[in-house]
Amino acid sequence: MTKELPNIAVLGATGVVGREILNILEENKVEYKSIKFLASARSAGSQIEFKGEKHTVIEANEQAFEGVNICLASAGGETSKKFAPIAAKKGCVFIDNSSAFRMDENVPLVIAGVNDEDLRKHKGIIANPNCSTSQLMLPLKALDEKYKVKRMIVSTYQAVSGAGLKAINELTDNTKTNLVGMPYEPEAFKYEIAFNVIPQIDVFCENGYTKEEMKVTNETRKILHFDENVKISCTAVRVPVYIGHSESVSVEFENEINENDAKELLKNTWGVELRDDISTFTYPTPKDAAGKNPVYVGRIRKSIAFDNGLDFFCVADNLRIGAALNTVRIAQKVIEMELY
Ligand SMILES: NC(=O)c1ccc[n+]([C@@H]2O[C@H](COP(=O)([O-])OP(=O)(O)OC[C@H]3O[C@@H](n4cnc5c(N)ncnc54)[C@H](OP(=O)(O)O)[C@@H]3O)[C@@H](O)[C@H]2O)c1
Repeated sequence: MTKELPNIAVLGATGVVGREILNILEENKVEYKSIKFLASARSAGSQIEFKGEKHTVIEANEQAFEGVNICLASAGGETSKKFAPIAAKKGCVFIDNSSAFRMDENVPLVIAGVNDEDLRKHKGIIANPNCSTSQLMLPLKALDEKYKVKRMIVSTYQAVSGAGLKAINELTDNTKTNLVGMPYEPEAFKYEIAFNVIPQIDVFCENGYTKEEMKVTNETRKILHFDENVKISCTAVRVPVYIGHSESVSVEFENEINENDAKELLKNTWGVELRDDISTFTYPTPKDAAGKNPVYVGRIRKSIAFDNGLDFFCVADNLRIGAALNTVRIAQKVIEMELY
């Protein structure tokens, strides 16, 4: 490492994802020259604790990006659309958690450890994929390299924390009112989330899929460099779980697949942890995954619906691999590869 350590900014430092970014920067012992914490005017001046010390939150504006080499951003799409081009112009590498730039052909969409080489193409902005896409990429990349994906069907069971702090509080309040038989008027979701599941995440597109579902299709193709011939269909469902997205995945491959070889492959895949032994009822659940870094995979079996098909269940902490952890890992790669 010959380059001087970077000056870092965390934009959206007071939010659900922002706070997790701070935890992971500390956990991963990321080295930097300086660090600052940005949010909106609402939180500017408030104190934030990082590495045992209190820091003052600064309002994000043009000047705030002066001298910043790397910005880890999780402040919503509109904020990113406003500040990413400004930051990039000032020479900052803007790593964005929102969906604003994910499908922009000039912006690499990266899962660290999956398509790191795409980082070299950045022009100042790097996008972090949607949470349901993110957790699937580590096991899928390994399987694709060996067996070549032909078609995939995914059903998600997504935690409320994926919709921010308001949704987390709504699950608690809605559950309490249900238990005492009181009526509840939902705000974060279209229907009551307590003791319920909701088959809609984000708005509907013309083809009847939701935007969330189309993100899985389009972002997977971009990250794994799949062409249009690889067919991907997703149904995204919100469930009353605080942290941890689950996914039921059915994949058809070009090459013949053996279930035991696939298990061995996933056992040795970086970032993936196998929880797969039905004789001891071992399989992943969101409660086990919350607060942890790996993507857990289990219920692996040869498909009886597809030739050369494999079914599996995949669970991960949506705030970590689905957002903050991957953002920090991208920043670490940018530092390691001296791309700032
Ligand atoms: N939650 C997830 O699982 C997840 C996963 C992947 C991606 N994301 C994306 O990450 C972003 C943040 O999500 P979240 O769940 O952390 O939301 P959140 O808890 O509502 O936090 C939003 C953060 O953005 C800041 N902010 C809002 N408007 C701003 C502005 N105009 N200028 C500067 N800062 C501003 C807020 O600061 P104040 O304190 O000043 O309001 C706060 O720090 C979103 O784009 C979301 O789509 C979330």
